[in-house]
Amino acid sequence: MSPKAKTVYRCTNCGADHPKWAGRCDACGEWNTLVEEMATRATTSASGRRISGQKSMAEGGSVAPTVRLRDVKSSQGRRLKTGIKEFDFVLGGGIVPGSMVLVGGEPGIGKSTLLLQVAGKLEELGHSTLYVSGEESALQVKLRAERLHGSAENVSLLNETLLETILATAGSERLDAIVVDSIQTVFTSDLEGAPGNVGQVRECAARLMRFAKETETTVFAVGHVTKGGGIAGPKTLEHIVDTVLYFEGEGMLEHRILRATKNRFGSVDEIGVFRMTEEGLIAVENPSELFLGDRLNNSSGSAVTALLEGSRPVLIEIQGLATKTGYGTAQRVSTGYDGRRLALLLAVLDKRAGLSFSQFDVFLNVVGGVRMQEPAGDLAVASALASSIYDRPVANSAIFLGEVGLGGEIRPVSQAERRLGEAAKMGMTVAYMSERGIPKRGSRGLEVVGVRTINDLFRHLFQT
Ligand code: TYD
Ligand code: MG
Repeated sequence: MSPKAKTVYRCTNCGADHPKWAGRCDACGEWNTLVEEMATRATTSASGRRISGQKSMAEGGSVAPTVRLRDVKSSQGRRLKTGIKEFDFVLGGGIVPGSMVLVGGEPGIGKSTLLLQVAGKLEELGHSTLYVSGEESALQVKLRAERLHGSAENVSLLNETLLETILATAGSERLDAIVVDSIQTVFTSDLEGAPGNVGQVRECAARLMRFAKETETTVFAVGHVTKGGGIAGPKTLEHIVDTVLYFEGEGMLEHRILRATKNRFGSVDEIGVFRMTEEGLIAVENPSELFLGDRLNNSSGSAVTALLEGSRPVLIEIQGLATKTGYGTAQRVSTGYDGRRLALLLAVLDKRAGLSFSQFDVFLNVVGGVRMQEPAGDLAVASALASSIYDRPVANSAIFLGEVGLGGEIRPVSQAERRLGEAAKMGMTVAYMSERGIPKRGSRGLEVVGVRTINDLFRHLFQT
C-alpha cells in the first residue's frame, strides 16, 4: 500500500492551513471552519501535466499549448438524449458528455428512482452506464428496478463506497455515464475523516469531476439535503460541479419538480414535472393540467395565476380562506407564499380596499406544493382573499397577473405574452392584469381586462 498522502486542515473562512485539527482557526479566529484536505492539491494542470506547487510564475512551469476558440470542438451537438423529456429539458437539451451533475433532494423524494430510470434509458439507447450504490444493497436496487418493469435491467451495479475502487472500476471500461448514489457515502482513503464529512465530500466530488473531464464520462452524483435546504456538505460542492438539480415535492403529493439551480450548459430555473407512480416516475408534459386538475367549480377563495418556472409558464391555483377568529389573536398561515408578503397584502387590502381581516384567521395555500417566488402572483392572492371575505367566487376561467404595490396599484408582470398564451391554451377566457402591461399581440379566445388598482378589480369582480 502506498504511504498515506499528507493532509492539512484548511480554514474554509480564511484559507489558512493547519497541520492538526482544531476547533478554532488561529489565523482568523472563526470556530468550526477547519476541514481536512489533501496537502498536495492541484498539482496537475487542466491539461493533465504536472506542475509544481509553490514556485513563482516563471520558474518550474513549462509552456502549454494554446488553442483557438474556433478550433475548440463544441459539445452542444453531442448531447445524449435520455428520452425522458422533462429530464433532458431541465439539463438544457440532454446530457453533456464529461459533465458532472449533482442531484439534490430530501430523502425519499425519488432521486435514486430518477437516476436508475435515467441509467436504464441510457443503457437501452446503447450508452453504457454504471450505477454505484453506497447506500443500498444490490437487492434493494434490484427491487426498485423491478418496480420499473425491467426497464433498468441492463444497468451494471457496483456496491462500493471507496472512491479509489469506484474510479478504478469505472476507468477500466469505456462508460458513458456513472451514477454515484450518494456522494455522502463515498470516501477516499487519503483523508482521515468519516464519509460524509465536509473534507471527504469535497475531495471525492473534485476527483469525480476530474474523472468526468478526463474520460468524457458524465457523472451523476446524488446529494442529500440538509434541514436548511442546502446540499449537505459544503456550499463549495455546488461550485465544483457543472450542474445542480434539485428534486423536490411534498411527501404526500405524487408530483415532483426537478429544478436546475446551476447549469453551465443550459439555463437555470428550468423545471421538469414528474409524477411518482407505482411504476416509477412519469414525466408530466402539461403541468398546468396537473395543478388545476382538482379545482372545484365556483368555490369562493380560489383564483388562478400563471407563474413562470424558468422559461415555462405554469398555471397555479391560489386558495385563500378567511374565517372568523375564535378567540385570541388572528392567525395567518401561509403555504407556498412568503408570510411577510401575505401580511403586507392584507394591510394593503385593509387600507386601499377597505377589507379588514383583523377579526379573521387567514389561510393561504399555493396549490400543489408549489412555492411562489415571483410577485406576479400577488393579484391572484389578493383576489382569492377578497373572494373568501365576500364569499363570492370569481369566474373559474379567469386568470390574474400582477404585482400589487403598497398603494393598491397593480403593476405589470414580465413576459405577459407567454403567460397569457398558456392561459389561453388551458381554456381560460379572461385575464385581469395591469393596463400598462397588456401585450400588443392578443391571445386567441382570451379577453384581457386592464385594471389599475385592486379597487378597480374588485369593482369588476364583485360589483362592490
Ligand atoms: P427513492 O428513489 O428511494 O428516493 P431517494 O433516493 O430520493 O431517497 O424513492 C423513494 C420513494 O419512492 C419510496 O417512498 C417509494 C417510492 N416509489 C414509488 O412510489 N414508485 C416506484 O416505482 C418507486 C421505485 C419508488
Ligand atoms: Mg436514494
